[in-house]
Order: sequence, then C-alpha cells, then structure tokens
Amino acid sequence: MFIPDEFIQELKSKTDIVDVVSGYVQLKKQGKNMLGLCPFHSEKTPSFNVSTDKNFFHCFGCKASGDVITFIRKIENLDYIEAVKLLAQRAGLEIPEGSGQNSGLSKLRNRIYEANRAAARFYYKCLYSPNGKNALEYLHNRGLTDKTIVHFGLGYSPSSRFELTNYLKNLGFTEDEIFKANLGNKSEKGYFYDRFSDRVMFPIIDLRGNVVGFGGRIMSDIQPKYLNTSDTPAFNKGNTVYAMNFAKNKADGQMILAEGYMDVISLHQAGFENAVATLGTALTKEQAHLIARYCKEVVICYDADEAGQKATERAIDIFRETNAVIKVLKVPNGKDPDEFIKSNGENGAAKFRLLLDKCGNDVEYRIAKLQIRYDTDITEQKVEFLTEIAKLLASLDNEIERDAYISKISEEYSIDRNALSAQTAKYAKKNEPPPPMQTYKANNIQQNQNFNYPKSRAANAEEVLLALLMTNSDAAIAICPDFPPEMFTTPLYRSVYEKIKERAEKGLGTEPVDISGYFSNEENSRISSMVYLKPRENDPFRAVNIYMGILEKESRKLAPEKTAAMTDEEIMAHIQKNRKRKK
Ligand code: UTP
Ligand code: MN
Repeated sequence: MFIPDEFIQELKSKTDIVDVVSGYVQLKKQGKNMLGLCPFHSEKTPSFNVSTDKNFFHCFGCKASGDVITFIRKIENLDYIEAVKLLAQRAGLEIPEGSGQNSGLSKLRNRIYEANRAAARFYYKCLYSPNGKNALEYLHNRGLTDKTIVHFGLGYSPSSRFELTNYLKNLGFTEDEIFKANLGNKSEKGYFYDRFSDRVMFPIIDLRGNVVGFGGRIMSDIQPKYLNTSDTPAFNKGNTVYAMNFAKNKADGQMILAEGYMDVISLHQAGFENAVATLGTALTKEQAHLIARYCKEVVICYDADEAGQKATERAIDIFRETNAVIKVLKVPNGKDPDEFIKSNGENGAAKFRLLLDKCGNDVEYRIAKLQIRYDTDITEQKVEFLTEIAKLLASLDNEIERDAYISKISEEYSIDRNALSAQTAKYAKKNEPPPPMQTYKANNIQQNQNFNYPKSRAANAEEVLLALLMTNSDAAIAICPDFPPEMFTTPLYRSVYEKIKERAEKGLGTEPVDISGYFSNEENSRISSMVYLKPRENDPFRAVNIYMGILEKESRKLAPEKTAAMTDEEIMAHIQKNRKRKK
C-alpha cells in the first residue's frame, strides 16, 4: 500500500501530537514542551518529551523519538500503514482511493486475517455443535467455564478434513490464500484439505485484535500434543505473545509469563488476567521487549520440570536486557500453573496469589538453585558453592544489589565478607565488555578520526539506505530479499541490514523498534539516530534502489582490477544480472 506524501502531511497537520500521546501518557507542561513518563521504557522520573511546535516526541532516557505516526506504531505495535489508518480515522480523514494497490503483501496479510477470523468463527460454531460435543466436554473437564471459552474464542476443528476449507472457499477465499494462512494444504494426490483436524482450537490474537494464527490441542495421546500455525506473512511466532491482547490492559505494572495456552487461560479464569505465554518456542528478545514495554515487573512462571527450569534461566538472561524487574515463581510439587490452580479447587486462585506475593527475584532464584546443588557442610562443596555465587553476583550490573547479596551470603555462610567481595570483583572484571565502540554523529563519520571505515562514501550511503529501509517497511519488504548483506562494508551496518532483510523476507516491519532487540543500547541509539537522514530522492522505492546501486558500485571498487575498465552502465548491468542470478 502506498500512501501519497501529501496525505501524510495533511494527516500530520490535522493531528495534535500532544492530544494523541495524552491518550497513553500523562503529560505535564514544562516550558515549551510537555513532559511525562516514557511509555517505551520503565522509569521513575519523567524524561519523555513532546514538542508541540516540532510535532515530535523524544525520550532522553531510551532515546525513542519520532513523529506522531512513529509514536502510534510503537505504542500500538502497528506497521506504518496501520498506524496511518488509525490516525486517519481519528482525524476523520479518508485515505485516498487507490492507495491500496501497491503492496500485494499487505493485501495478502489482510486476506489472511480475514480467513483466520472466519476460521475462528467456524471452529467456535463447531465446538457448540453436536460434532463438538467431546471437545466441549474436554474443555469443561479441564475446568473452563463457557464464559472463559467465549472470552478466548476457543473452538473445535472437526475431524473430516474438508469442512473448514470448503467453508472458506464458499466465502470466496482461494486455495492459495488458505494455504498461505496455513489453514490448509494440498495433498500429493492434489486434493486440498484442512490443516487442523479433531483438535481443540486456541486462536492467537495480536495487539490489534487480528486473529494471526492458531494452536490446536489433540484430545488424546497422539503427537504432537499441540499443532501450531507456522509462520505466515501475517504471523511470526517469535514476535507474538499469547493473550497479550488481554493482558496489556490488565498488567498494572506486572505480567506473568507462563509456558502454555492452558496455563494462561486458567490463570485468567482465576483472575490473573496479566498472564501471557510464548507459543511453544523459547522466549525471544522481541517477546521479552514487548512484555517489558507493558509492565515494570515480569514474573516467570514456567513448568516445574527440568525443561521448564532451564527455560527459566534462559528467560532470565533475556529479560535482563530489558528494564523489567524479574521474578520467578516456581509452582510446588512439579505442577504447571494450570494444574496447580485446578488441584487446589476453590482455593486455587488464593493459593496462587500467595505464591505470587512471596516469589523472589531472579537472583534469589538462582541462589536457591545453587543451594540445592551443593552440600555446604562439606568444605570442598562450600568453596565451590561460594565460587558459583561469586560468579553469579559478578553478573549483576547493579552494585548496590551486588553488595546486598554479598552481605547476606557471607553472613549466612559465616565467611569473610571481603573475600567474597574480592572474588566477585575479580569475576566482574572478566565480564566487562570490551571498550565501547566509538560513538559519532550519524552521517558525519569523516569527522571522527578513530572511526576507521574502509570507505566513508560507502558508509554514508549505508546509513542513508538503512534509514530508508527503517522508515519504509514496504520498500524494504519489496526490495531487500534481492540485496545481499555483503554489500555493506561497516560491520554494525551489515548486521543491522541482515536483521532488516530477515524481517523483510517475512513481510515484517523494519523500524528501529522492530530490530532493537538484537542490538545493545549504544548501538540502538546510533541506529535510531540514522532515521533522520533524508535522501535527495523523495520516492522511497526509487531512493532505495539508488542507494543500493551506490553500495554495489562502491563494493566493486574493492576489486579495482575487475571494474576499472567498466562504465557505470556496465557495472549496473552486471549488478542487475547478479541479482537475477541470486533469485
Ligand atoms: P506443555 O507440554 O507443558 O503443555 O507445553 P501444557 O501447556 O501443559 O498443555 P496441557 O496442559 O497438557 O494442555 C507448553 C506449551 O508448549 C507448546 C504449547 O504452546 C504448549 O502450551 N507445545 C507443546 C507445542 O507447541 N507443541 C507441543 O506438541 C507441545
Ligand atoms: Mn498443562
């Protein structure tokens, strides 16, 4: 979808950024600007600025900044087009006709949403039809009320392999669309059949209310227990958090992260509507950042089995990169949260509340795990235990936190405080990251003598190209798949591009906020500062092509003997040929 620039200008001029932001953030006047607590990172003193005359927001804490469209994109987790639509609706403006023809991808995505929505309705109807009797009984037996079933839109996929696809075809969906939504497959013999059959269905809903996929649970011991929608142009598992659509409004500072669909649903039914889950995959950085955006404290509440505990440790490491306070709730007796609540009958919710209130932070959790592993009555083991403790404490960034635990442990195990402190400091030194990369003003690298790029013309072009790709996801999605990362000479920019390309190939957004999970704070602030670079060419598609051309040309210069004799036209032709071959 291509929206003309004039429309965007009109939209921005008719939208008051303070008004929009105030819907999410409490702002106070401060001089010429408005100030509030940043919604994109957790903070106690306000550093989030909105400038009325510049129509711009900027957070001095996390460096998030941009115009009103960027704000809506970030806070609502929308792509560019969707944010524009939302703001247009708000301003009572109509997006010009014909804007929709440009991107096949966003069209396809919408068709997938529609097909998924129709499928969810179909599954729901089946659950309450005679055919779904067993499935409904199954859910009731698992303790779910009809109210919960409706709330989560649960359903049943019938065992005949054709009902859903026939239903969708009758609604006008093509086999190709059904296939791309991952709702149906073609068999080797050539007939088209439902992907899900005889399973209880859990629709997965994104933050905007789109049905993006499904999980389907078998009601017997057949494997796999859960079958999930594979990634589609409308669904990326690693970016999606189950029940986030509900939980984000109920968080009140805290979210509970569980492992499974049923855990989340049980928790919600028991009144813990701040529970969410990943979808059968290990927690990703993106999911952690998404969760951390909506709460100050995350309580990891994975299964008590070994796999769950391993996953807990991994999740702790990932959340440590966010600003969230991390707590760990270990459900007793090897149960998962769903089983725990159910096995306690009427007291389930109250008992879980107790666990929640007394659960420790991640350091305590890790210490407790070490305590179990070592018998500290044996001197040798005690030494090992304390060495592990020193390593663990060394990994803490917060010195006050570190110090508090050093006191606590040395007292508890009657050892010399200074010894533990010194050992911790030793490990901490080892952990120190290499000296930070040189920071510099974007697009101005020549000024910095130390920043030794092989070619500054290339680096300049790399920055503008990345800026274009980060502000025009549609262009990125259309063009990146054919452009190899090797064309980037600057290591950081190459990895930024790799992430953009990876996402673009899946039809996902490529804004700084989308890729920030992969980079350090410092790198991120450099990356987002590039967004303001503007190419001379206005049309983003053309501009992207031009800058890719520059990079390609520059990269030829590395092999002068090959290209010295070639004209620009010949080089471009050569590049075009190369690109085609890569396809
Ligand atoms: P669990 O095996 O712990 O299942 O998987 P569960 O959540 O307790 O499910 P119930 O209570 O037996 O119904 C945890 C999560 O891992 C994913 C699902 O998201 C599940 O909720 N999973 C599990 C799969 O995707 N596929 C599987 O085959 C199994
Ligand atoms: Mn379970």
